[in-house]
Amino acid sequence: MRTSKERAPIYEMLEAHAAKRPISFHVPGHKGRTDWGVPGADQRYGPLMSLDVTELTDTDDLHHPQGPIAEAQHLAADCFGADETQFLVGGSTAGNLAMILGTAAPGELLITQRNVHRSVIHALMLAGVQAVLLPPAIDISTGLALIPEENLIEQTLARYPEAKGVILTSPNYYGLSTDLRPIVERCHAAGIPVLVDEAHGPHYGMHPLFPQSALQAGADVVVQSAHKMLNAMTMGAMLHMQGKRVVREAVLQALRMVQSSSPSFPLLASLDLARRRIHTEGPQAFEAALSAARRIRQLVSGTRFRILHAEAREISDGVRYDPLKVVCYDEWGQWDGFAVRDLLAARGCHAEMADARFVVLALGIGSTYEDGEAAGQALAAISKELGAARSAVSGEHAPLSGGLLLKAPQVPEPVRFDRQVKNVISVPLEEAVGRTAGEWIVPYPPGIPELFPGERVTVAAIERLKQWNRKGAQIQGAGDPTLSRIRVWD
Ligand SMILES: Cc1ncc(COP(=O)(O)O)c(C=O)c1O
Repeated sequence: MRTSKERAPIYEMLEAHAAKRPISFHVPGHKGRTDWGVPGADQRYGPLMSLDVTELTDTDDLHHPQGPIAEAQHLAADCFGADETQFLVGGSTAGNLAMILGTAAPGELLITQRNVHRSVIHALMLAGVQAVLLPPAIDISTGLALIPEENLIEQTLARYPEAKGVILTSPNYYGLSTDLRPIVERCHAAGIPVLVDEAHGPHYGMHPLFPQSALQAGADVVVQSAHKMLNAMTMGAMLHMQGKRVVREAVLQALRMVQSSSPSFPLLASLDLARRRIHTEGPQAFEAALSAARRIRQLVSGTRFRILHAEAREISDGVRYDPLKVVCYDEWGQWDGFAVRDLLAARGCHAEMADARFVVLALGIGSTYEDGEAAGQALAAISKELGAARSAVSGEHAPLSGGLLLKAPQVPEPVRFDRQVKNVISVPLEEAVGRTAGEWIVPYPPGIPELFPGERVTVAAIERLKQWNRKGAQIQGAGDPTLSRIRVWD
């Protein structure tokens, strides 16, 4: 007798439907057939097409689920420890839009961090809200941005008790995070819900070597890209809710606005199957991926490359890392992350991302020991080719920290977001003080916006921009990357 968690209700429904060999007089127009006349494509897509159906009496409706979708979402809530889970077919992007649109009305105030995915900023714009954008804490050993300091959040809560929510992004793209629980507790004590973009952490809390999940830390709404680290298809994500601080119906209403009325059933079924895998196998499901990470570390030791973290749960000052993100760098700083990424790609190993220092290998539940072997061997071969010894390099050991450390960050003024396109003019940098920024200005690295369109330009912001310029940071977003002029609202 199978327990319910062994079921995959959406997938089973699709199989049963296809087995009836139904003659389709409904959308989609392909009618379950591949007749593109491209043999390879017909073969690849063939088996999938009969599962690509629409809302029928025996299927279900994502926006009003009562059958297999409702059952699958209940199972997911049980698996991830939520009170309620919604399946997303538009990635975490859709989840971020909905959680924010569902939490604050136009003109209301939210608190978040400057280093957010653009979907968070787009949500603030669509919602027409004000947001206090806090500078993130910087991990000293790596220069990578985390969430804002707890003290700063506390000061912000005291100054803006009317805030409708605190939105955090954790873990970051590199798999670094800090404990969310103390912040969640402070926010809850102030009666304010915590919404977490946990796009990169759908596996958190699922294995003793992974950090705690945002739901385990008590967050009210959590968005996870199941497609990033679990084995759901691309765009498959989940939005989880717990407790009563957020009006769930408002989030559901927003989801109906931002998601298609024709969600992909193969995609929904892949979410169901991804949940089933971890629900039934538990931590065991991640052992192969962890063995891949270990293998890369083994093969890289003794080469010129280093992996950011040893296999320990904490690295420094309470910063935790994701063992499935293998963050690699050239110890002597001669080869930047982009170059190493390209050298890896030339050997068939395609990394998730690279920056001026690091190359990030994202493992996932589908990774195998052999994948780790391939990446490790590739890095070892690249190291050999480049010369493993420091003497091969003339330059200094490049510092790991690329961050501009803010000693005692102040609580900034809120930025008023809206969707209207404004007339902008270009003015000399110094003359922008007191005006409203008309463009994003993002020093890279670390890629944290110093100015958002709609943000008042302060003397401090101009000083920081000058510092970035002096440090030689590349300025992204700005019409004039040398920053002698910037665009402001007319
Ligand atoms: C932190 C963060 N949030 C949200 C997203 C959007 O996720 P998705 O691609 O699932 O829409 C991303 C995408 O990379 C991300 O890095």
